[in-house]
Amino acid sequence: MGADIESILFSSERIAERVAQLARSLDAAFQGTYPLAVGILKGSFMFFADLVRAMSLPVQTDFMCVSTYGSGTTSQGRLTIKKDTDASVAGRDVIIVEDIIDSGFTLENVRRIFLERGARSVTIVTLLDKPSRRTAALQPDYRGFVIGDEFVVGYGLDYAEKYRSLPYIGVLSRSVYEK
Ligand code: PRP
Repeated sequence: MGADIESILFSSERIAERVAQLARSLDAAFQGTYPLAVGILKGSFMFFADLVRAMSLPVQTDFMCVSTYGSGTTSQGRLTIKKDTDASVAGRDVIIVEDIIDSGFTLENVRRIFLERGARSVTIVTLLDKPSRRTAALQPDYRGFVIGDEFVVGYGLDYAEKYRSLPYIGVLSRSVYEK
């Protein structure tokens, strides 16, 4: 697997440090409330687990799995809910936890759905933000790192379902996806 990774962008230590900072910001912002944290599967599973356990504030945890169908690698088109949240978001302060925002299409739609369902507030937390690829008018409220237009894997992020279990975030070698 090592040869597939061109370089390590964020080590597990650097990720842990940033996740702890994000957790402190969320603790302060949501003090006195009981938010519903919704992880968007599958990419967010590792970040989600680390983030909620780094928070002092109790949060309710839930998950949603969505997929987008469209042209090639750009997620344009239609959003399908493959697994919905178990909890109702009506009246809740919802924290959407995502691994990466690319075009912004996924979260623009998820946020709209939660607001239509009566969420009291919707806050977006993403570990990675790739603003160069944005086509939707969507900005995260909290983000771990801003990255360029590079293919990153690890810490939950995949290429063809591989590499999710890596403890760091690395840049995938071109040779892997240009094969
Ligand atoms: C990735 C990522 C986001 C979405 C971001 O999910 O986890 O949900 O793409 O792209 P966008 O901003 O262009 O909409 P993916 O569909 O690869 O599924 P996964 O989380 O199961 O890997």
